[in-house]
Amino acid sequence: MKSFYLTTPIYYVNDAPHIGHAYTTVAGDVLTRWHRQRGESVWFLTGTDEHGQKVMRTAEENKVAPQAWVDKLVADAWKPNWTALNIANDDFIRTTEPRHTERVQKFLQSLKDSGHIYAGKYEGPYCVGCEEFKLPGDLIEADGEKLCPIHSKPIELVNENNWFFKLSAFVEPLLENYRTNPDACQPESARNEVVSFLEGGVSDLSISRSTFDWGIPVPWDTDQVVYVWFDALLNYATAVGLTDAPDSEGGKKFAQTWPADVHLVGKDILRFHAVIWPAMLMAAGLQVPKKVFAHGWLLVGGEKMSKSKLTGIAPSDITDHFGVDAFRYYFLRAIPFGSDGSFSWEDMSARYTSELANDFGNLASRLAAMIEKYCEGKVPAVATDVGLSQALAATVAKADAAMVELDFQGGITAVMEFCKKVNGYVTEKEPWILAKDEANRVELNEVLYNTAESLRALAVLLHPIMPATTEILWESLGANKSIGSIGAQTIANVANWGQLPEGNIVTKTPVLFPRLEIKE
Ligand code: ME8
Ligand code: MG
Repeated sequence: MKSFYLTTPIYYVNDAPHIGHAYTTVAGDVLTRWHRQRGESVWFLTGTDEHGQKVMRTAEENKVAPQAWVDKLVADAWKPNWTALNIANDDFIRTTEPRHTERVQKFLQSLKDSGHIYAGKYEGPYCVGCEEFKLPGDLIEADGEKLCPIHSKPIELVNENNWFFKLSAFVEPLLENYRTNPDACQPESARNEVVSFLEGGVSDLSISRSTFDWGIPVPWDTDQVVYVWFDALLNYATAVGLTDAPDSEGGKKFAQTWPADVHLVGKDILRFHAVIWPAMLMAAGLQVPKKVFAHGWLLVGGEKMSKSKLTGIAPSDITDHFGVDAFRYYFLRAIPFGSDGSFSWEDMSARYTSELANDFGNLASRLAAMIEKYCEGKVPAVATDVGLSQALAATVAKADAAMVELDFQGGITAVMEFCKKVNGYVTEKEPWILAKDEANRVELNEVLYNTAESLRALAVLLHPIMPATTEILWESLGANKSIGSIGAQTIANVANWGQLPEGNIVTKTPVLFPRLEIKE
C-alpha cells in the first residue's frame, strides 16, 4: 500500500528551534496523526539541514568545527524539542549522514550523465541567510546597500566557476504541472506566485560552490561542494531510498512512499520547493510531489520571526506556561493555515481559558464527577440523543474534509463547535437538578450516557491535535479497557454512537487544563 508521505523542511542548525519551526512540525504531526486515524499507512519525515555557509560560519564564530557544532545542536536542541512537543515522526534525516551524502552523489552523477549539468560561471548576489542566489529584482535597497528583504542583511557578491543545472528547460513542464494539477501547489496564492514567477522566465541554477568546503563533494570535481539547497531538497527522497536498486530495502521503501503526498513548508522557501525541486525530479524522470503547501509566517513586530534576527521565541517559553497540548492547539486554531499571524500572550490566554479549560476541560471533569456522584463511577445504560448523534456525524464529515485539505482551523473549529453543543446539552438538561428526584433516574442516566459518549468522540477527534490530554480523558472514561487504545480509533468509526459500554469504570481526571498562573 502506498503510504501517505509527509515531510517538513529540514531546518538549518545554525541555532536552536523557535516557535516558527515548531509551527510547521506540529502541523505536520497533527496531519499525519489524523491520516493514521483514517487508517492509512503514514510516513512522516523531519530532519536537519547541516551544510552550507550559514551553518559553517556560525560554527566558526563559536570556534567549533562544523560537524561538532551540528552534532551538539541536533542532540541538545532539535531532537529534544520534537520529543517535548510529542512529535511522532517516523524518521529524522540529517544531511551529514552517509545515507544522504552517498545518495546525493549518485543522483548528481546520474543527472550529469544524462546531460542536465554543465560547467559555467556564476556572478551575482547571494544571501547567506537564505542560502540563495538572488535576482537583482529580489533585493531591497537601504543606505545605498542592497539587502535581502527576508533577512534585512547585505547580500554578498559571488563570482565562481560552478556547475549548473539546466533549470530553464523545465519551465514549460512545471507550468503545465501547475495548470493541470492545482493541488500540486497550495494555497492558491502560493500557486499564483509560482506560476507568475515561472512565466517571467527562469535561468539555469548554479548547483555547486568552490570557495568553501562544508558540503558534499561533487563526485566528478571534488574541489567543489554541492550547493546546499540542491543537497537539502534531496533529503525528501534520499531518506526513503532514492537511487537504491528496486528490489533492495531502500528501493522498496521508495516505491511505497514516492511521490511525497505533502511537502509542508513556510512561504519563505516556496520557490525552492515548487520550482527547483520538481525540476530536479523531472530531470531524473521521477514523479513530482503531489502537493507543496506553503503556510504563512509567525510575525514579531510585523516581520518574520527568525533565528538570524534573534526574534525567535523558544517553544518552551510557551509550553512552560500553557502546556504542550495547548501550544499544539493554539497556532493551528488561531491562524488560518496559509496566512501570517502574530503570537500574543493575551489571545493565547483567552483561548486557553475559554476553549480548552472551560469548554473542553470542564466538560470532562464535570462528567466524571457526576458519574462518580450519581452512578457509583460507572457508565449508565447505553442511550441515544438524536440531536447529539446527528451533530456528531456532521462534525466528523466536516472536520475530516477540512483536515485533509490542511484547513486545520476549519477542522478544529468544527470539533470545538460540537464540544459547545454538548455543553449546551448539559446546561439544558440540568442533570444536577434531575438527580434530586429518584423519579428522574432514567433521564438522568441518559443525559450522563450521552455526555460520556460525546466525550468519547471528542477525545478521538482531538487526539491528533492534543495527544497527551486526550489520552488522559480516554483513560478516565475507562475506554482503554473496553474499546482499545485511543490511537487505534478510526475517523470512519468515531460517529458510530453507543460505543462506551454500560458499566465502564469512570475515574476523575486530573484537571486537563489547569487555571493559568498569573504571568509577572
Ligand atoms: O529554510 N513563521 O531552514 P530554516 C512560520 N534549511 N514558519 C517559520 C518561521 C516563521 N517565522 N520561521 C521558520 C530552511 N519557519 C532550509 C530548508 S528544506 C529542504 C530546507 C519554518 O531553518 C518554516 O517552515 O530557515 C520555514 O519554511 C522553515 O522553518 C525554514 O527553516
Ligand atoms: Mg530561514
